[in-house]
Amino acid sequence: MAHGLRRTDPKVWEVTFPVTVAECYTSTMRPSSSPSSPRLRVLSGIQPSGSLHLGNYFGSIKPNLEQQKKAGESVFFVADLHALTTVQDADELREARHDIILDYLACGFDPAKAIIFFQSDVPEHTELSWILSTVAPMGLLERAVSYKEKVQKGIAASVGLFTYPVLMAADILLYDATHVPVGRDQKQHVEIARDLAIKFNNAFGDTLVVPEPVIRAEVAVVPGTDGQKMSKSYGNAIPIFGDEKKIEKAIMSIVTDSKGAEEPKDPEKCTVFQLHKLFLSQAETKALVEKYRAGGLGYGEAKKMLFSAYMEHFGSLRSKREELMQKSKLVDGVAREGAERARAIAVKTMERVRKAVGLL
Ligand code: ADP
Ligand code: TRP
Repeated sequence: MAHGLRRTDPKVWEVTFPVTVAECYTSTMRPSSSPSSPRLRVLSGIQPSGSLHLGNYFGSIKPNLEQQKKAGESVFFVADLHALTTVQDADELREARHDIILDYLACGFDPAKAIIFFQSDVPEHTELSWILSTVAPMGLLERAVSYKEKVQKGIAASVGLFTYPVLMAADILLYDATHVPVGRDQKQHVEIARDLAIKFNNAFGDTLVVPEPVIRAEVAVVPGTDGQKMSKSYGNAIPIFGDEKKIEKAIMSIVTDSKGAEEPKDPEKCTVFQLHKLFLSQAETKALVEKYRAGGLGYGEAKKMLFSAYMEHFGSLRSKREELMQKSKLVDGVAREGAERARAIAVKTMERVRKAVGLL
């Protein structure tokens, strides 16, 4: 793949970075009615519903950071209104939303380049969400797998949980986002945002930018310690920040088969390998594959190697986070400034939307 970008189906880019603005841009993305928007605007959100983990980092944060370095404008927000669908403890939510901003900053998001804010600080999200809900077909939401999965896992089937994708569509469309880097679990939600933008534009004229999901094939689904998709809510996550001993314990608890140290092993079937390769270059991955296949590498040793790779990769980020924690007003300042910048864009989009539907 010369430029690292290809369509796996008509709606989705599978991407291996680097990607340039020109490669990403298609004429369907930007309506003529929003000429002030930059050509490329990358947007992403993370729910403050627990500690940031390897899946969040490789599936969302890292691709977003790489995009931030390249071009255009980046928008990152803490999806605290979404988190209310699962977190109903005020202290827990307060702490988690504050922590996520610190995590973002420690990972390298630069508030001078990226707009970082709390979703709930920009009331236009809920306003656009309502307007979009009036064009959203019930059938579209009824097909959303994430709602069914969450209800199956015991999360209360609230109206908010059901209309979650409409609020997410508002998050994206409010900022004329062109690209939304996410893990594969969020692909359907970004497709719903596309569908709603197209529906709205068909009903009211060219108003909303139709966004593209950007999914990195090699990190589309990062497995957890049990081999299933890593998730904050599945108890299988390996956090990025927090107590080193707990992280080591989580890595040592990764489920493997019972092959002895001397036996040859299939790396593709091994969660330890799947996680380890996230930290390795192509040549290093090849060498590790050979080690697995040759036999002589026990799972205990493989886990220790993974832990060292983890510490090497995240050591500096972890120290940076410790430093940032000492700056008591930092998060408030970043979030306040971010909300102002976000609102400046959101208000303009809402003006277009209000005009289009006849509310202005
Ligand atoms: P969680 O499932 O832990 O609650 P979120 O839903 O908050 O995670 O996800 C935040 C971002 O991280 C989303 O873009 C999501 O696609 C990505 N992500 C979460 N888990 C994974 C995973 N296991 N592999 C790849 N990306 C992931
Ligand atoms: N639903 C996303 C998740 O659970 C979080 C999110 C909310 C989001 N709004 C968004 C992600 C907009 C990308 C764009 O991971």
